[in-house]
Amino acid sequence: MAKEEFTDAIALLKADHRKVEDLFEKFQSASSKDRKWELAQQICNELKIHAKIEEEIFYPAFEGKIEDDLYREAFVEHDGAKVLINDIVASGGEGEYFEAKVTVLSEEIDHHVKEEEKPAEGFFAQARDTGIDMVEMRDKLMARKQELEEQAKNGGLPPAELAVVEIATRA
Ligand SMILES: [Fe+2]
Ligand SMILES: [Fe+2]
Repeated sequence: MAKEEFTDAIALLKADHRKVEDLFEKFQSASSKDRKWELAQQICNELKIHAKIEEEIFYPAFEGKIEDDLYREAFVEHDGAKVLINDIVASGGEGEYFEAKVTVLSEEIDHHVKEEEKPAEGFFAQARDTGIDMVEMRDKLMARKQELEEQAKNGGLPPAELAVVEIATRA
């Protein structure tokens, strides 16, 4: 994928959102267990890469420049999704809760994407208003995305690390 394919950083991130939505739809309509597992793995990889480029590069560029609540909620929403992502990957597609986990993940992602793309008030709209160069940002996101895609191909990505949520394990 060439970076010229996307006009700027927001176009690139939105294209990721559309791709994952499409994969979730395919998951819902797939009939075989193997196909569902294959799609779930693709979804989890895409989301891990997307969350990482947003958290490492995109989000921090706007810290203190957009509403704090929105900024912080984005990280918490990512962490919530990562708990399910890591669980789904580790499940190997087995277990009676497998499909429920993927469905709830899709609902969480749906909410999060709406918060990012909401016209005028969403994360992306506020980010655009800062005047930060979104073409330069696109190039940075793209470079990191390509690195992570390579890593995913060669041996796979490690479980997603939580950024702000601290998991209380069973006492
Ligand atoms: Fe996003
Ligand atoms: Fe996000």
